[in-house]
Amino acid sequence: MCPPVHFGVLYEINPWMHKEVVVDRDRAHEQWKGLVATLRGAGAEVVVAEPDPAVPDMVFTANAGIVNCRADAPHQFVPAHFRFPERQPETEIFARWFAGQGFTVDRLPVALAHEGAGDALPFRGSLLSGYRFRSDLPATAELARLTGAAVRAVELVDERLYHIDLTFCPLDDRRAMAAPMGWDRYGRTVVEALVPEPLWLTDDEALAFSANSVVVGSTVVMATTPPRVGRQLEAWGFDVVTCDVSEFLKAGGGCRCLTLALDVSLGGPPRSPARPPEPSGVTTG
Ligand code: ARG
Repeated sequence: MCPPVHFGVLYEINPWMHKEVVVDRDRAHEQWKGLVATLRGAGAEVVVAEPDPAVPDMVFTANAGIVNCRADAPHQFVPAHFRFPERQPETEIFARWFAGQGFTVDRLPVALAHEGAGDALPFRGSLLSGYRFRSDLPATAELARLTGAAVRAVELVDERLYHIDLTFCPLDDRRAMAAPMGWDRYGRTVVEALVPEPLWLTDDEALAFSANSVVVGSTVVMATTPPRVGRQLEAWGFDVVTCDVSEFLKAGGGCRCLTLALDVSLGGPPRSPARPPEPSGVTTG
């Protein structure tokens, strides 16, 4: 995560951003600290990157790039290539940060845009990737080549839901929140086939940033919790925590955009392969 020291709505690169809307930076700082405390309380370890005055949207670390902590190879980081010049300096800032943490930094071809984990979410062995507004479709093939991930690309169709992490939220290995309004008919069939137990979000729930939630173990941290969504998550055994990030919604980002998961492994063998329990007293053959 990256503290909102230089955060503001200083330009408009998504439909939620309006330059005339003033960000209350003290309030943003309180909200950000509240999110950090909530994530830590849920059991997450939070590592903080130093903010840079040149890039007010650097708080949205989900877009930094793709993290791939493989068990059998050096940890890998593929820095984002931002669509808009306003965010482009973040590429080198984050590449340096990850290199400093011992990651191997692998680059996408310069001509292709891809906005990192904001447009690519691992779920059940696939990397569900969004393209159109911020990421280019050919970048997903490059990501597959660089990371070994099985990439499934879906086209985003509503510019208010301009990143895939505004339309999809993995909850555990069978369940995910999913906002069909964000995809075309083909994308919907991809997600239907991928998710055994989906929580389909209505358009209003999607536009309230419900899919942009952070999941830490069995805790789901959400910017707003529509009652129906909260009930379903609780029925599934999740603890739901609502975390006010209203200052960041002014820039079109919710809870998840403010984080980048580092415990991610794509392709190759999983880091801690789940093993079925040994059957006891049962003989076969
Ligand atoms: N203002 C930022 C932008 O438009 C918000 C980024 C939101 N990030 C996300 N992962 N959805 O780039």
